[in-house]
Amino acid sequence: MSATPTAPQSAESPLSSQPLSSLEQWDDFVADRYREGKSEEEFRVYDKAANPGVAEFYRLNHENQTVAFVLEKEKQYFSLQKGMKSIWEAAEFLNTMVDDSDPDTDLTQIEHLLQTSEAIRRDGHPRWMVLTGFLHDLGKCLCLYGEPQWAVVGDTFPVGCAWSPDIVYPEYFANNPDRHVPEYQTEHGIYEPHCGLDALHMSFSHDGYIAEVMKPYLNIEALYMLRYHSFYPWHKHGAYQHFTNDQDRAMLPWVLKFNQYDLYSKGHTKPDVKALKPYYDELFAEFLPAKVAW
Ligand SMILES: [Fe+2]
Ligand SMILES: [Fe+2]
Repeated sequence: MSATPTAPQSAESPLSSQPLSSLEQWDDFVADRYREGKSEEEFRVYDKAANPGVAEFYRLNHENQTVAFVLEKEKQYFSLQKGMKSIWEAAEFLNTMVDDSDPDTDLTQIEHLLQTSEAIRRDGHPRWMVLTGFLHDLGKCLCLYGEPQWAVVGDTFPVGCAWSPDIVYPEYFANNPDRHVPEYQTEHGIYEPHCGLDALHMSFSHDGYIAEVMKPYLNIEALYMLRYHSFYPWHKHGAYQHFTNDQDRAMLPWVLKFNQYDLYSKGHTKPDVKALKPYYDELFAEFLPAKVAW
């Protein structure tokens, strides 16, 4: 899927507060950024003119993900007050998301989830990892709760400390109000050296939310895959080593293993949802109660 934002936007602002034509436009951008053979230098050079929606999306993300915003959203969502839903109900809910993408060529959200989990299953990975593949993007339902795209997807990074130059489009942090809080601008900011990634407040997104939902049920490897799958500055670029501890270093290979499937399992073959359902019914029942708190 490589739709460009051609749909009519509001008259006053040509790119609006929802500059991506669909959430997958961000996923596609990341997959292209880490295309095999692309150099670190190429990573830094993007054509804003060729992809204005993506550039505008990052501008909004980088300007608005502040400590205050993240703390407010953690308070709002990490208490899991959005009701009880089974995994299929959560997936059906995500399927109701409408965007400007072409319904003839694009896959539904459930089909996307199954592409990732089925690729993991085909390679013979443990059942909990297949489950994690299916679950990892369910937090994108934040969009349906009314959150803007820039608070749902995007590469994640810790707030309350200096931004790494390895974050994509770092120049857009120039207008983030946290720039004027000296305490947030030091290397360690509000954190202790080697406090561990779990002590950090990450920019708010679907990753942190789904990890909170699944925290009571999954192993630590799976929770790292959920919580940090979009933390590219850490898992792809090796940034933020001054915060990591032994546990983070032990978990990194799992996060990297998972990333391969997140980036490259998307194709145009539609998974047969009906045929796969019995396998997933059993998989969900093995690890999760009938309904979980969202
Ligand atoms: Fe994701
Ligand atoms: Fe994903």
